[in-house]
Amino acid sequence: MSQRTLVLLKPDAVSRGLIGEIVGRVERKAGWRITALELRTLDRATLETHYAEHVGRPFYEPLLEFMASGPSVAMVVEGERVIEGLRALAGPTDPIAAAPGSIRGDFGTVVRENLIHASDSEESAERELKIFFPELPR
Ligand code: PPS
Repeated sequence: MSQRTLVLLKPDAVSRGLIGEIVGRVERKAGWRITALELRTLDRATLETHYAEHVGRPFYEPLLEFMASGPSVAMVVEGERVIEGLRALAGPTDPIAAAPGSIRGDFGTVVRENLIHASDSEESAERELKIFFPELPR
């Protein structure tokens, strides 16, 4: 089943010079295509909408502060079961628990700066794509 998903390379990935490394891993996966890509510093309003489900959680403010701290790369990736595939490529939230070979397992050090966001379901993907790429055909 072909799907599309939103991927964010977070400010730590950009500042550490890991855009090429991470984008390369996505491109090397047979059958996946990057269909939109933009470098931008995310504003508070965009982040509040994107992370609305986490309001009130202890990590909410640190997460928003970190995500607004510098440019991120937002991209749309399409392909067979790409939502599940990108979550696996990213690895679990906590980099210490992430297996070598995953992006967080190879490059992550702390939970807050965990390099990458990837939508966790088809519903989340469509909601998040509307926030970051409102011009995409639905
Ligand atoms: S949950 O409980 O499964 O919904 O939470 P989880 O998916 O693990 O995390 C939700 C998002 O919050 C980020 N997160 C954090 N950011 C900063 N500091 C801390 N301690 C922290 N813990 C979790 C986590 O990376 C998720 O953001 P995204 O952008 O989806 O990766």
